[in-house]
Amino acid sequence: MQQMPPDRTLLLASLRDYLEQLREEGIDGLPNPNPSSANTSSLRREVSKVNSGGSTGPQSLADQLPASAPSLLRPSVPGELFYRYPGLEKTRDLAMLRDFIGSCTRCKLAPQRTNLVFGVGNPKAELMFVGEAPGADEDLQGEPFVGRAGQLLTDIIERGIGISRRDVYICNVIKCRPPDNRNPEPDEVSACEPFLFRQIDLIRPKVIVGLGNFAVQALLKVKAPISKLRGKWHEVRGIKMMPTFHPAYLLRNPTDKRLVWADIQEVMKFLGHPLPPRGTRR
Ligand code: URA
Repeated sequence: MQQMPPDRTLLLASLRDYLEQLREEGIDGLPNPNPSSANTSSLRREVSKVNSGGSTGPQSLADQLPASAPSLLRPSVPGELFYRYPGLEKTRDLAMLRDFIGSCTRCKLAPQRTNLVFGVGNPKAELMFVGEAPGADEDLQGEPFVGRAGQLLTDIIERGIGISRRDVYICNVIKCRPPDNRNPEPDEVSACEPFLFRQIDLIRPKVIVGLGNFAVQALLKVKAPISKLRGKWHEVRGIKMMPTFHPAYLLRNPTDKRLVWADIQEVMKFLGHPLPPRGTRR
């Protein structure tokens, strides 16, 4: 089936949103790989018109992007995000985003769920945890991480870090339970991922902790296993992301709790609240 070309207004909205995001990340100038290129300077004029809310002339911006244009200018992820669900870029807070999602039927998980599990916690949290998908308990209660793995995550937050679960934000890549706790499938991830990315954009935490193979691979769009990715800083939508093992994995492999603890210590050091060494906490 042929795809409709993206609407010009949407394209501009998503480009503006992306430029705002870059500015928030501290990028306020555009790299110019070829100062003599007329294409690049006309592109700059277009971008500055978009920034100031002005018109962009008859041709679509995407059409004007030369193949050599700096990749920062290509509305890649944000563009895809907003083309897929027009209006998503207009959600200005988590309540609006939740309303936008509604009683979602955008993927095949919808008919089997009890509750859509959106996310919980502080909408202005510095620290955000992202897991894989709701399990049976989460599906029944409509809240992420409330089963056995959830209890362990709560312990890590409340007893380990020493803050209330209400002070962080917790959600999953997938908002509905896959049947029999099977892994989410690619079409389910791609249907749900724009909502996770919008959650991240709206909360703009200082750090995301990615929990387990699936969540981290979905966030980073890589295939490397969690054992290779954990313990090192990555970036997702301009936010620092620390991958670590999933609490469900820790229930089966409790000796790896020390690795998770090392990752959490790194996170807290970055946030400016270093934790005392293990075993010395009151
Ligand atoms: N595992 C997850 O990844 N998310 C939950 O919400 C519960 C278990």
